[in-house]
Amino acid sequence: MTDTAARNDTATRNDTATRNVTADREDRPPPPDRADPTAIGAQRVALPGSDVKVGPLGHLAAERQRLDALRWEHFDVTRTSATLGAEVSGISLADDLPDPVIADLARALADYKVLFFRDQPLTTAQHVAFARRFGELEVHPFLPANTDSPEVVRFAKSADVGGYENGWHHDVTWREVPSMGAVLHAVEVPDSGGDTLFADAHAALDELEPQLRERVDGLLAVHDFVHVFGHTLSPDDLASMRELHPPVAHPVIATHDRTGRDHLYVNRFFVSHLTEADGEPLDPAESAQLIDALCRPFETPELQVRLRWEPDSVAFWDNRAVQHYACSDYWPDVRVMERASIVGTRPVRR
Ligand code: SIN
Repeated sequence: MTDTAARNDTATRNDTATRNVTADREDRPPPPDRADPTAIGAQRVALPGSDVKVGPLGHLAAERQRLDALRWEHFDVTRTSATLGAEVSGISLADDLPDPVIADLARALADYKVLFFRDQPLTTAQHVAFARRFGELEVHPFLPANTDSPEVVRFAKSADVGGYENGWHHDVTWREVPSMGAVLHAVEVPDSGGDTLFADAHAALDELEPQLRERVDGLLAVHDFVHVFGHTLSPDDLASMRELHPPVAHPVIATHDRTGRDHLYVNRFFVSHLTEADGEPLDPAESAQLIDALCRPFETPELQVRLRWEPDSVAFWDNRAVQHYACSDYWPDVRVMERASIVGTRPVRR
């Protein structure tokens, strides 16, 4: 075929293809609103004899589409799950990054809720310096610190020390002002296992049945460090820590201070019970049943992203927008992680 004949042939084929596609489109009903969870095709159905539902989680579509439309000037971003998680590349966290890059990272954190970075060999000082760009760092009163820096918590697991972070939780919700986020650096990782999972607290709220959401709206959850850390303290230390950190009530549904979006703020690690808005405790059986119902959505795989760690991977999570869960499937192997947590604001419902 001559060049001209080939061009004409291609043009004819393209023309026919375009006509066919156009005809096909005209025959089809208009597409449903791609972000409308009530659209046909996005309905879930209960399995017979059970309250377990299967089918698409249509309420994730709008957020997923919003994230896909985002563009970043200072680094590359690859979304890693439906509504949360993004791998960020093209920057070194050890560098003294310019303010516009830090501002963009803060925006990306608010959008993707947890950011992942690979190949970031950070010294403790560099880890602290990076985290400090996002706010003051907290010192954890119960967890062991890296010897060079009190603000860096060191999770050093081995045959002698098992991993007990394998429950869904936001960090330090027993504080009056819990952390806004944390930067976790993998120092040593096992050959297999030890992944960390994150679950979207906004999407978890959207998972609630309307009746349940109405019941819990306005309730408070009482958060208490004793649940997790009490057994590690002598009676005297427990008494003095109790004075420093009394139980604290936060809204069950809180409003994210940066994005203005509501999210669930209840976790099994630290919440002891629920109260009405005036502080009146709920009947214990109802409280326990509601806590269970509010924590379950975080266990839904579609709301999660899972990080397979490599040495010098870093995860930076928004401690309000996600809960996390560290898989404890590598004992007796060694897994060493270091975490710097950034002080946040007191959770409120707006
Ligand atoms: C944590 O719960 O903050 C630790 C997470 C992890 O070790 O993956």
